[in-house]
Amino acid sequence: MPFHKISPDDLAYFKTILDARYVLTDEEQLTRCASDQTEDLHYMPEVALQPGTTAEVSDIMRYCNEHSIPVTPRGAGTGLSGGALPVYGGVALDMKRFNKILHVDKRNFQVTTEPGVITQELQEHLKTEGLFYPPDPASKGSCFIGGNVSENSGGPRAVKYGVVKDYVLNLEIVLPNGEVIWTGANVLKNATGYNLTQLLVGSEGTLGVITKIVLRLIPAVKHDLLMLAPFRSAAEACAAVNAIFLAGYTPSALEFMERDALEWSMRYTQSTGISLPDDIAAHLLIEVDGNHMDELYRDAEAIAAVVQKFDIGEILFADSHEQKQMLWTLRRKVGEAVKSNSVYKEEDTVVPRAELPELLQIIKRLGAEYGFKSVCYGHAGDGNLHVNIVKGDMSDHDWNVKLTEGIRKLFAEVVRMGGTISGEHGIGLVQRDYMDIAFNEVQMQLMRQIKQVFDPKGILNPGKILTNT
Ligand code: LAC
Ligand code: ZN
Repeated sequence: MPFHKISPDDLAYFKTILDARYVLTDEEQLTRCASDQTEDLHYMPEVALQPGTTAEVSDIMRYCNEHSIPVTPRGAGTGLSGGALPVYGGVALDMKRFNKILHVDKRNFQVTTEPGVITQELQEHLKTEGLFYPPDPASKGSCFIGGNVSENSGGPRAVKYGVVKDYVLNLEIVLPNGEVIWTGANVLKNATGYNLTQLLVGSEGTLGVITKIVLRLIPAVKHDLLMLAPFRSAAEACAAVNAIFLAGYTPSALEFMERDALEWSMRYTQSTGISLPDDIAAHLLIEVDGNHMDELYRDAEAIAAVVQKFDIGEILFADSHEQKQMLWTLRRKVGEAVKSNSVYKEEDTVVPRAELPELLQIIKRLGAEYGFKSVCYGHAGDGNLHVNIVKGDMSDHDWNVKLTEGIRKLFAEVVRMGGTISGEHGIGLVQRDYMDIAFNEVQMQLMRQIKQVFDPKGILNPGKILTNT
């Protein structure tokens, strides 16, 4: 900083790198690149560039670095922490043309893909080859795999299969100065030097632009069973989560939904597929998967027996593909449903799994103290709770000032419990000012120095994760 405003000369130069139709300055395209799914935030870029090759990204980066023009990489814009918002204007680097799956290496259970492929399309393509890439963020039908890598996304299956970082073997990246490197090697084990690959995963587009991704795959799993268990107490639903593991089972998904989460999602999706008795406070959505149906039935019954020790209603066992789809749609649409209902803020707390009941209790206590209503849901099997704070009838002052104090208190409690302030949505813009709760000055300084090494002029996705960029 200070950054240079884009001039007609800059636009003319970009048109020597890219065909003019990929240098976009019209209102509609700039507006599209001004927001993601984070609250209702908008930051207009000055131009949106749509490169199609690594060489083009490299040329753009070299030029912007030389001219101190900020560049904000962008995937599908489904992020929830503001990672893709061009807060200083400049270039929105729209990666949508990087939409090819380059090579499926079935022999080695690997795929090399460009970052602009929709995650679910990648998964479906791999499935036809008997291959499985498990991470499944709620937005899998629209998000890009490149955004998933940048945010180290998770999703329901993480509880059994891990998150994105557990699948990334190697990345081709363009550094802010235009240099192109691979971060690692296409191997399952790698003890060679510093782990640049994992440093880039979850770096939210602040260290390099990802142009190719090599993922590890596993054999496709043949079957799954899904059940929905209604609890009369949300605290008991949280306690049942750990009981399932202590009984010796690892579900392939173990999701928690407070009553409001499910009810709002039912209304939003106009679903009448399940009944929601008045005395039900929360649900667990529990999936098991594997290759042998008889084993799965035994596991599902055993898990049902564990949850039946709590005060629950009647468990719904999904008995068809359609019913499974219906339940998963309800779960995946909770976030959208909350967003459509009220102005809201989304926190992405994560604690060691056994502390989940305490986390929920603290959220509700702080809500009473600071006057906010929260709708909680998420990946209970990972101790990862999405806390949607809805504005409702809070005054603007309470929303903008008092609530920040409440959130700081919540995060401090999360850290005290051994947790941290984002499990899978990233820090981006909206959690940046809370980083001091999770890290001390020594840790923050190390992170600033890492940023400095990769991006000495601070042009790549400035204003994200760290405050001084
Ligand atoms: C979900 C997103 C919000 O779990 O992470 O629905
Ligand atoms: Zn989630």
